Amino acid sequence: MEIIIQPDVRLASLTGARLVAGLVRRKSDAVLGLATGSSPIPLYAELVEMRRRDGFDFSRIRTFNLDEYIGLDPEHPASYHAFMKRHLFDGLNVPGASIHIPDGLAPDVEKTCRDYEAAIRACGGIDLQVLGIGSDGHIGFNEPTSSLASRTRIKTLTERTRRDNAAAFGGPDRVPCHVITMGIGTIMESRTCLLLAFGKKKAAAVAAAAEGPITAMVPASILQMHPRTIFLLDEEAASGLKRADYYRWVYDHKPAWQKG
Ligand code: GLP
Repeated sequence: MEIIIQPDVRLASLTGARLVAGLVRRKSDAVLGLATGSSPIPLYAELVEMRRRDGFDFSRIRTFNLDEYIGLDPEHPASYHAFMKRHLFDGLNVPGASIHIPDGLAPDVEKTCRDYEAAIRACGGIDLQVLGIGSDGHIGFNEPTSSLASRTRIKTLTERTRRDNAAAFGGPDRVPCHVITMGIGTIMESRTCLLLAFGKKKAAAVAAAAEGPITAMVPASILQMHPRTIFLLDEEAASGLKRADYYRWVYDHKPAWQKG
């Protein structure tokens, strides 16, 4: 696990965007796993800026989003379909057929989940998965006690997550109870995981995920078992880490050939 601590959200997001762009430069048809929530928004803005300013070409990438609310129309402003369009896809040149987001209106949820897994496999697997982290340590919508080997499936949100996500719906009671989410096993098969966390409210979850025991009570802690996971943090999100000075030292002394 590589832990990169940056002075602020903007610099951390720039570092993340450079990692994504570097991958797409090396592999134009890279498969990106994408997350929603506030954490990746500045990274997405940076990618849109690269497209606008430099004409960076995203036309061959394929994308798979982590999750979607069940029962929400893709046009609903709080749906993850609408979120991705607003924050990323409207500003990039990714063809619609290359964009995959779980279908929250699918009549057969189990089938749509199986098909989603098959589509990821058919693309050759995810090269880089962008992740946020819930205040309870969840990734995607894999709430605490999710099986660490789980695949794409239906999940029921905890009250805490519904409270955390209430703003987009105008109240916790309006947040759907059920979602479709990639499983933890699905996420763990990505070749690289890039977890973004910013702000004081994420400090405890980040510390538990990076330095605590591996446990289904903190789903992100399984990333300790992943061969290439990067945590990209601002100072506040890193404030609960016992070994923060060591992570800073490691990053500052990274061999030149390992950068980029
Ligand atoms: C939701 C999403 C997660 C995201 C989390 C944190 O639960 N399903 O993928 O990581 O919110 O969101 P934020 O970045 O807004 O704190």
